[in-house]
Amino acid sequence: MTTDARAQLKINTDRLMASLDELGAVGAYHDEEVSVTGVRRLALSPEDARGRRLVKGWFEEAGLTVSVDAIGNTYADRAGLEPAQAPVMSGSHVDSVPTGGRFDGALGVLGALEVVRTLNDHGVTTRRPLTIAFFTDEEGCRFGTDMLGSAVAVGRIPLEQAYSLTDDDGKSVQQELKSIGFLGAEAVGMRTPHAFVECHVEQGPTLIHEEIDLGVVTGVQGISWRRLTITGASAHAGATPMSFRKDAGLAAARINCRLHEMCAGGEYGAEMRATMGVIHPEPGMINVIPGRVIATVDLRNPDDDAMRRAETNLDAYQQHIAQELGVTIESVQTARTPAVVFDESVQRAIEAAADGQGLSHRRILAGAGHDAQEWSAVCKTAMIFTPGLNDGISHNPRELSTPKQCADGINTLLSVILSLSDEDG
Ligand code: GLV
Ligand code: MN
Ligand code: MN
Repeated sequence: MTTDARAQLKINTDRLMASLDELGAVGAYHDEEVSVTGVRRLALSPEDARGRRLVKGWFEEAGLTVSVDAIGNTYADRAGLEPAQAPVMSGSHVDSVPTGGRFDGALGVLGALEVVRTLNDHGVTTRRPLTIAFFTDEEGCRFGTDMLGSAVAVGRIPLEQAYSLTDDDGKSVQQELKSIGFLGAEAVGMRTPHAFVECHVEQGPTLIHEEIDLGVVTGVQGISWRRLTITGASAHAGATPMSFRKDAGLAAARINCRLHEMCAGGEYGAEMRATMGVIHPEPGMINVIPGRVIATVDLRNPDDDAMRRAETNLDAYQQHIAQELGVTIESVQTARTPAVVFDESVQRAIEAAADGQGLSHRRILAGAGHDAQEWSAVCKTAMIFTPGLNDGISHNPRELSTPKQCADGINTLLSVILSLSDEDG
């Protein structure tokens, strides 16, 4: 096929959307609150396993050579004209948050698959080999650490440490990988691609509000997660005078308010974000003072220095609150990634591809964590963002992308993969 003909290649949008629908039906649940169907495929759960098996089967049907590594990352290789060259890799994740939508992660995996299916349809063999993949537990909701599989693959998190992580029921990553049949034989750390590109929904409002077709992702902000165990004393809500209390619920509430003050104050930059997403009081009764609260803190900041200052300030505030309220606070860091800057040349390749498709684009920093940020440690990397409806909402069943939005992203991915696969050295 001539270079010109390759430039005209287009994915099959109906097929892509049909695959997104089919994967979206795995772990689908009806969310009463918003009256839409969402997705629940917690990492290494039976639903995740079904999703994985479905996609792995599609990889095999596309004629790819599939291997699973020791942390359950699943790679599908397509031969190139020059087999000794490092491959171009693309992929994302099939796990979801417990109240997720159909596109977060799935678009990147099934989009990469659609690229391969399109190349197969047209009998195109790329110069470099291609690898498409899905990575284990990107979300981090079950075992507490996000981007787990890709972080292990690139050597940031040791395999044994990842294996020993447990969920709330005490089940370990290693045990669950084994039980769903995804504890693979390939050693981790074996893959160094030529380049990595991931397409993902933006998960925010910028592109849709600015009516821009695509985001060219410049990097990812830093993430700091901690899990707090606040221990006070449970006692009768009516009979215990206020001055006698050691109220773990009050401590959690005060820390949560502090987080919001820290963001509003501007001391840590205008982009600082903070969330207490888990607040579990025990025993959790209307008339019992909470004796214990399990809470989580999620901090995001594109400025590493500001992030460190925010963490130090929060440590000091936790100590202060413990003393003032007579509680103890155990604080465990469960995830920590620095801000990541993506490769300029891959960003330019994405821009050129978007221009070739006649699509408008802008550069944008990722608010969420992504597998691509881990791969950027070992090869040149960037991401394509697609806009979403409903203000780009994500981690919510109302997450929604149109066929055109998905196709724009994946046609651009196809074009970028073709250009990267032609590169020398
Ligand atoms: C992953 O989706 C994260 O940013 O938490
Ligand atoms: Mn994601
Ligand atoms: Mn997500």
